[in-house]
Amino acid sequence: MQLPKLTPLQSRLLASAVATGLVIVLWICIEPRNLVYAAEVPIPEHAQSNEFVESIPPSLLNVPPIDLGEYTKEERSNGVYAPDFIYFDRSVVGRQAEEVEQLSNNKKAEVQASPGSTKYFRFKPGQTSGNSARTAPVDASEPENMSENNTDEEGAEEDGLEDELEKRQSGTRMWISANACRGPKPTITLITDDTPQLTLYVSTSSKVQKPGPDTPETTPIPFYSGFANFTLQTDSEVYMGISAPNLTTGWNGSWSYELVASTVGQYHNYANNSNFIFMVDTDSESALFITHNFTSSNSSEEVEKWKRNNPFTMFAFPVGNWSDMIGLEASYCALEQQFPTNNLKVNTSITTIFGGAVPVSQFHITGLEADKDYQGFLAVNGSDDQTMNLTDVGLVRAGGEVFKQFTWKTKADDSCQVIFNLDFCNSVAYAVPSSPEFKLDDDRLKKLYDDQAKAYYRNFSNALDQVACDTASTAQYSLARNCNDCRRDYKAWLCSVLIPRCKDWNANETFLQERNINARLEDGTVPHADNLTKEFNQTFRERFAYSRSRNPMVDQVIKPGPYKELLPCEDLCFDLVRSCPAQLGFACPNSPARELSYGRRNTTSLTCNFPGAVVDLSPLKSGVGFLALRAGTLVLMSLSAMVWVWI
Ligand SMILES: *[C@@H]1O[C@H](CO)[C@@H](O)[C@H](O)[C@H]1NC(C)=O
Ligand SMILES: *[C@@H]1O[C@H](CO)[C@@H](O)[C@H](O)[C@H]1NC(C)=O
Ligand SMILES: *[C@@H]1O[C@H](CO)[C@@H](O)[C@H](O)[C@H]1NC(C)=O
Ligand SMILES: *[C@@H]1O[C@H](CO)[C@@H](O)[C@H](O)[C@H]1NC(C)=O
Ligand SMILES: *[C@@H]1O[C@H](CO)[C@@H](O)[C@H](O)[C@H]1NC(C)=O
Ligand SMILES: *[C@@H]1O[C@H](CO)[C@@H](O)[C@H](O)[C@H]1NC(C)=O
Ligand SMILES: *[C@@H]1O[C@H](CO)[C@@H](O)[C@H](O)[C@H]1NC(C)=O
Ligand SMILES: *[C@@H]1O[C@H](CO)[C@@H](O)[C@H](O)[C@H]1NC(C)=O
Ligand SMILES: *[C@@H]1O[C@H](CO)[C@@H](O)[C@H](O)[C@H]1NC(C)=O
Ligand SMILES: *[C@@H]1O[C@H](CO)[C@@H](O)[C@H](O)[C@H]1NC(C)=O
Ligand SMILES: *[C@@H]1O[C@H](CO)[C@@H](O)[C@H](O)[C@H]1NC(C)=O
Ligand SMILES: *[C@@H]1O[C@H](CO)[C@@H](O)[C@H](O)[C@H]1NC(C)=O
Repeated sequence: MQLPKLTPLQSRLLASAVATGLVIVLWICIEPRNLVYAAEVPIPEHAQSNEFVESIPPSLLNVPPIDLGEYTKEERSNGVYAPDFIYFDRSVVGRQAEEVEQLSNNKKAEVQASPGSTKYFRFKPGQTSGNSARTAPVDASEPENMSENNTDEEGAEEDGLEDELEKRQSGTRMWISANACRGPKPTITLITDDTPQLTLYVSTSSKVQKPGPDTPETTPIPFYSGFANFTLQTDSEVYMGISAPNLTTGWNGSWSYELVASTVGQYHNYANNSNFIFMVDTDSESALFITHNFTSSNSSEEVEKWKRNNPFTMFAFPVGNWSDMIGLEASYCALEQQFPTNNLKVNTSITTIFGGAVPVSQFHITGLEADKDYQGFLAVNGSDDQTMNLTDVGLVRAGGEVFKQFTWKTKADDSCQVIFNLDFCNSVAYAVPSSPEFKLDDDRLKKLYDDQAKAYYRNFSNALDQVACDTASTAQYSLARNCNDCRRDYKAWLCSVLIPRCKDWNANETFLQERNINARLEDGTVPHADNLTKEFNQTFRERFAYSRSRNPMVDQVIKPGPYKELLPCEDLCFDLVRSCPAQLGFACPNSPARELSYGRRNTTSLTCNFPGAVVDLSPLKSGVGFLALRAGTLVLMSLSAMVWVWI
């Protein structure tokens, strides 16, 4: 603070003010505190415990705030009366105010901390200084009007207490949360110890105004991956300390962090056991993800609303010996600060093509390297103006929410490429056969496939128009299915058969179908070079099911290397045959030809392709799980103009 120039008279006034202050402080120190209140106050039980911390020891809570009547809130702090003079604030009167930062309700304090240091903060839950954030319980689980009423069952059970004391104990619910935005980095390449973490200390006792490693009465709350939180209920001043550990050899640097005390709700959030994301597919250079459902409405207003303001954001980092996110995985500000240091791009949009047409957020990550592990983080970007209530996420406040990180691996070859947002085949969102020529030109590849599908569909439509579709229901080809079912099922089938789902040549799941095996691999070798027998040539190399793609355009125009195909699900074919008039002559192949053209669904893993198929990256499921989102149905046909021979 800038002090005004003082006249000699003012200087003398300052000196006497300081002296008066000191005398009062001395008096307060000598005077036993309990004399201020005649009664020893029972222990309030409102400090909430959490998974990783015990309640504040009751013995620390038995000093109530001292009621100083008319004095301002600053005068109340410490329960000590120190006069404020016009021109001089407490930083002149006492040194303590310099070291203890006063927090404003629901406003973040941004702090730099060097190793071995502890910074102190205080907050008075009753105050709303700094902004207009209203003190109110917001969680659905909270009793309504709790803070206005200030009643509390526990307090009411205490005998012999005056109403006033009861009131004071019940307290305001408050949330403390912190995010570490930056931390020390290792100076040696193969560091094995855990990243050093900050520690939060909380006290509500005026005897412990600087909680930290030196105050054994306060329980340390270690940061977990750069995140710490604590909840309590009190009306008395709350003292906080954040301590940075001394660095051991191998580490260098300092911390920066955000600390927020709030009576509105928890500012920073971390979803420890959900990553809330599905992987759609990946190729050698990009990956596509979607969030879980976060709203249950698929109305167009709802979709537009999320398109205008998509709160979800995704961050990605290469996994190596060291990434700047190690030890900060639960911190939003760390993600925001560290992400721009790598050269990955994330393109975010809202899509409705996956399951039930409800909007979900879609992320297309580009700039990845082939055959490499990456780490991803989904986060909700909080907003100061509005608390969001998202289905299956809950309330998200200004500090945002970070979901648990997940990892994935990019494909090794350029033979597969992720495409999505096709004009006609709009439910296609996966890796398709490609070649280096199209690697950085998604649009051209999309157009090739999509135009071909449109042309086939036009032929089909013309054929269907010859069938009695729009006659009275008695004249229809089926009572259960009509031409709209046929169109829908044909489109779904056509898009999955024409646009194969591509996997790396070295993928080894048994249900994958080898395609194009006579082409050369990227290293110039032929597949199965170890078996040049006639027998092998007859059973594999010379059979179209292995030597070609099912869609001739893929071989003729796109010219991928050898690849493996996740076959379309056979139910897409069955649906087509069931839904369309017999005159169109659709039929599904029988065994053993069927196994070369279609896969079979499996509830535990993605063994065949269907519209909206995604991979669940949830860490709670053992390994990689799969989720079947069925948007419609699809399959192989035998309509004369479109017959392809597989065998
Ligand atoms: C850091 O080291 C100093 C000196 O060795 C010690 O006094 C201090 O307590 C340590 N701080 C912490 C947080 O361990
Ligand atoms: C958030 O939404 C869920 C369901 O949509 C509802 O049950 C819950 O009460 C809401 N919470 C708040 C605080 O509005
Ligand atoms: C809670 O308080 C608000 C005003 O503060 C009032 O409008 C509302 O009706 C109250 N609700 C209940 C359940 O008392
Ligand atoms: C306080 O609690 C009573 C019942 O316990 C309720 O009727 C009243 O609406 C509550 N809210 C306020 C603001 O008084
Ligand atoms: C530690 O970090 C500081 C600045 O961040 C830098 O100047 C110094 O060289 C680093 N020391 C080591 C051993 O890396
Ligand atoms: C800490 O935050 C997490 C979610 O962000 C929440 O589930 C947990 O209950 C919080 N713990 C406390 C003690 O507030
Ligand atoms: C998250 O989960 C891990 C392991 O289940 C646990 O050790 C850690 O304390 C949790 N962190 C938070 C912030 O909930
Ligand atoms: C998402 O919502 C749609 C429509 O409500 C539903 O069909 C689908 O199963 C949901 N998906 C998940 C993963 O919950
Ligand atoms: C498939 O390949 C992976 C490595 O790419 C290997 O660990 C695994 O054992 C292989 N599985 C089979 C059945 O060959
Ligand atoms: C089988 O095919 C491979 C590759 O085309 C060829 O090199 C080999 O000579 C063939 N073997 C026989 C016995 O024809
Ligand atoms: C070559 O392939 C044929 C047909 O699959 C098989 O019977 C034979 O054992 C294979 N030979 C070698 C050396 O792998
Ligand atoms: C699903 O696939 C796995 C792995 O391919 C297989 O072990 C399992 O038996 C299959 N389950 C069913 C029901 O087909």
